[in-house]
Amino acid sequence: MDKVIKKILVTEEEIADKVKELGSIIANDYKDKDLMLIGILKGSVIFLSDLARAINKPVFMDFMDVSSYGKSSVSTGNVRILKDLDYDIEGKDILIVEDIVDTGKTLSYLKDNLTRRGANSVKICSLLNKPDRRTVELSIDYLGFTIPDEFVVGYGLDYAEMYRNFPYVGALKEEVYE
Ligand code: IMP
Repeated sequence: MDKVIKKILVTEEEIADKVKELGSIIANDYKDKDLMLIGILKGSVIFLSDLARAINKPVFMDFMDVSSYGKSSVSTGNVRILKDLDYDIEGKDILIVEDIVDTGKTLSYLKDNLTRRGANSVKICSLLNKPDRRTVELSIDYLGFTIPDEFVVGYGLDYAEMYRNFPYVGALKEEVYE
């Protein structure tokens, strides 16, 4: 375990097992549909690349980048699209792939935004859920792990663009970000 990590919350093995499980559930749920995975940059990239390979059927992939609004913000209107999809999603079955649902504002905005573009269905797959911090209601269709209210890094999640490459999800020591 790296010295900036206080505690490992989800191990590499637990992640690998969960990704396989989610991949097979998703493949089955979408067996009669064309599935379009939309990865939210950059936090979902490592999860998405493992998850996509655990889905045993062809999938279409695209990416979006949205701004984070800052911890003090209270308005959903503050979510901004920094990089939009390259493709039209009208009539498509979309699965948004995200690293973590915290307040829920980002995914609530995205789900609404993609639905309004005429997608046939928009579902959410998140590696992590921090329900203690939720401020907007949101249903997560496919979830990896529920975690306590700790700032976590690894397996795609960062602090100031660092630590995304850690193969586990760990709580960052407070002294690193205070
Ligand atoms: P939400 O809109 O509050 O649900 O926040 C979603 C985004 O905040 C995630 O996609 C992450 O980029 C970021 N985030 C929230 N909690 C953490 C954390 O513990 N570690 C790293 N990033 C986080």
